[in-house]
Amino acid sequence: MQGDLGQEFRQEMERLVEQLRESIPETIRRIDERPALRAGAAEALADFKRPLAEQGSGAAATIERLIELNEKAGGNVVGPKCFHFVIGGSTPASLGADLLATAYEAVTYTWILSPTGVEMELQALDWLKELFGLPASWSGIMVTGATMANFVCLAAGRQWWGEQHGFDVSETGLAGLPQMPVLTSGFVHAATLKCLATQGIGRGNVQQFRRDDFGRLDLDGMKAALEALDGKPAMVIVNAGEVNAGEFDPVPEMIDLARQHNCWIHVDGAFGLFARISPRTEHFVKGVERADSVTVDGHKWLNVPYDSGYAFVRDYGLMARAFRYSADYLPDENDARPTLGAIGPESSRRARGFAVWATLEAYGREGQVRLVEHCLDIAQHCARNVREASDLELMNDPQLNIVAFRYNPGGMSDEELDRLNERLGQAVIDDGRFLVGTSKIGARTVFRPAFSNWRTRTEDIDGFTAVIQQLGARIAPN
Ligand SMILES: Cc1ncc(COP(=O)(O)O)c(C=O)c1O
Repeated sequence: MQGDLGQEFRQEMERLVEQLRESIPETIRRIDERPALRAGAAEALADFKRPLAEQGSGAAATIERLIELNEKAGGNVVGPKCFHFVIGGSTPASLGADLLATAYEAVTYTWILSPTGVEMELQALDWLKELFGLPASWSGIMVTGATMANFVCLAAGRQWWGEQHGFDVSETGLAGLPQMPVLTSGFVHAATLKCLATQGIGRGNVQQFRRDDFGRLDLDGMKAALEALDGKPAMVIVNAGEVNAGEFDPVPEMIDLARQHNCWIHVDGAFGLFARISPRTEHFVKGVERADSVTVDGHKWLNVPYDSGYAFVRDYGLMARAFRYSADYLPDENDARPTLGAIGPESSRRARGFAVWATLEAYGREGQVRLVEHCLDIAQHCARNVREASDLELMNDPQLNIVAFRYNPGGMSDEELDRLNERLGQAVIDDGRFLVGTSKIGARTVFRPAFSNWRTRTEDIDGFTAVIQQLGARIAPN
């Protein structure tokens, strides 16, 4: 490109603003009507890859092409018909704030780069502590999601464990230390194992105490193992909300037990911690405030845009020591102006706090309770549809926002039903009207729609169970 680049880009930016004035509202307005996944997405992207052009096509044509591609092949996870994994929608306030975070390009490594970005993050974290009943004195940080929030919490726990042995593991590493005991139930999430794998603990070193093939906690087994440690420091991971059916470890009992021993107690409440804010479900997470660290996700049930997860840790010092980040040109964690990059894994950080602050400011506590209870109601509606259908079978009694069920036209063995539901799972993805995944409860294959989006209506659920029945009948052997 020759000439005055600054001048050209300024002019192009003006034209872009006009173009976005139409396309962004249109994109947002059509969220409800787009299918969850476009049938034929792979074909639409068939000629997508090409070598880098010598001459670019300019912003206007590029943005148009992006929109065209996304309309043909984009997913619509923010829409009302995506029940896969655990994915939330975006509240109006949070979507607006997140767009502005990009427009302002607010950077939150340290206060002087974006005083509002940093203060909004800290304020929003304080509000989340209030919302979830966590002590105000705890420290917190925003990261990409629950995987990285677990990473922060487990790193703080590992730091604690090393210090119990007289080592600063962030300085000296793990060499010379024994294997860190990690105890949990069979509900432990793959993200937690990934974190432990990357922190020198090893995923194979995690002791899972299971009393059944679903993975529910064997509390007596865990008790015996903790007693055998005889006061040696250990980590206990409490799973508040597992992904197959939305069940919980017995949170209060597990914390009681671990507190009698020398343990770091981490609670993975990626979506389950939201149970805390409705009187209908708060008993599932009673006592989380007695843990040492807690993970929760925002892009799940808080309904803020991806990516947004939060780590809460009792002891600020452990976070600061685990993630120490210093050089002559950098502020450190003791600077009067907060430097969030010095207490968490990311140095370069976008302003996730904009969206979280905005949704809490806009809707308050009451808004969060309404959102959670809306999804609880939607899950119960889905369970009712399943119970009433002669060819659907409920596979657990849903307590939260996940309903485990399978297509069962009758006259088939469990193994045959597993194969049928696996094929049906693929057929639903190919169909694209709804996005939902299958998983296992014990040995059995189930659908596990998770409801965490304010947009989902009861008629979406009626459409969903009807599609499962329709496609099921089509592929089931006669
Ligand atoms: C219990 C639990 N922990 C961790 C994660 C990982 O979260 P993320 O994808 O936000 O990193 C999930 C995601 O579903 C989860 O349900």
